[in-house]
Amino acid sequence: MNTVIKNTVIEAWRERMQAYDRYMAALRGNGDEHGNGGGHGHSHGHGHGRGTQRFSYTNKPLDPLRMDDPVVNALFNILGTDAEVLDVGGGSGRLALPLATRAKQVTVVEPSEESVELLRERAAEASITNIAVINEPWEDVLEPTADIVLCSLVLHHVMDAAPFVTKLQKHTRDRVVIVEMMETPGAVEMPFYERVYGSAPTPLPGLPKVLELLWALRIFPDVNMVSPETAILDTNRESALEHLRRRLSVEEGTDADERLRAAMEDLLVDIPEGLTVRGALPRRSAIVSWRPACD
Ligand SMILES: C[S@@+](CC[C@H](N)C(=O)[O-])C[C@H]1O[C@@H](n2cnc3c(N)ncnc32)[C@H](O)[C@@H]1O
Repeated sequence: MNTVIKNTVIEAWRERMQAYDRYMAALRGNGDEHGNGGGHGHSHGHGHGRGTQRFSYTNKPLDPLRMDDPVVNALFNILGTDAEVLDVGGGSGRLALPLATRAKQVTVVEPSEESVELLRERAAEASITNIAVINEPWEDVLEPTADIVLCSLVLHHVMDAAPFVTKLQKHTRDRVVIVEMMETPGAVEMPFYERVYGSAPTPLPGLPKVLELLWALRIFPDVNMVSPETAILDTNRESALEHLRRRLSVEEGTDADERLRAAMEDLLVDIPEGLTVRGALPRRSAIVSWRPACD
């Protein structure tokens, strides 16, 4: 792929993210029109220096010893024995904790202090002691290297994704492993934007855009699709309402809040795992991996 195509792909990635940011900024800054009380300080946070985002997909505490997680099981197949793992943007340890039960060492790079605190709590609860934390954005990290450099559901928060990926390659001794979904986890919220505001933000880049970016960088990875999972919005209605109010910048008691509650009545469906959204596509994750030295 030539430089023009590469630059076009990188620019399209930035434009997509900027369009998303503009939509979100308009929600936050236009309180009267949207009834959102724009001054309450919510920010989406695609990465360091741009606010923090509470991330419900990862914040749900999961058993580090779970055997039924298709992504974790696929990662175990790559891990081998005695591996050192660097989990870039590891959040509160959704993947780092189970990986630490098989790896020699897992180092989580995570800029959010809130997530790091949760990670430390969960590691202590599970008596997992082989996790280290670097509480910084990836762009600022100098050390270390690891056998596996993992980056799961992070790239769609990163505006300058090309240097971010290049840096992943520099820190691995064996493989880079990216986990991404066909549609980003926030896709399940889109019908609520439609119902509350009559429009939805430009979707953040999911798996197809990530592959396009890698190919533009002349990276040709293996792509392993894992079994689809039902998209869960949240575990119960109360926390779903809190989550959606925050994500959509909706203030309690406003007209927008009334529309949000009506949409929840219509769209939320109870299933044994929690709450899903009527018509939501299953979450299809892929394990995207490559050995930089062999390319
Ligand atoms: C959607 S969560 C994914 C968490 C975890 N990797 C998982 O798969 O459950 C995205 C994480 O990326 C982190 N993140 C965002 N920008 C980052 C950056 N520049 N460097 C490192 N981590 C970043 C966020 O703080 C957040 O914890």
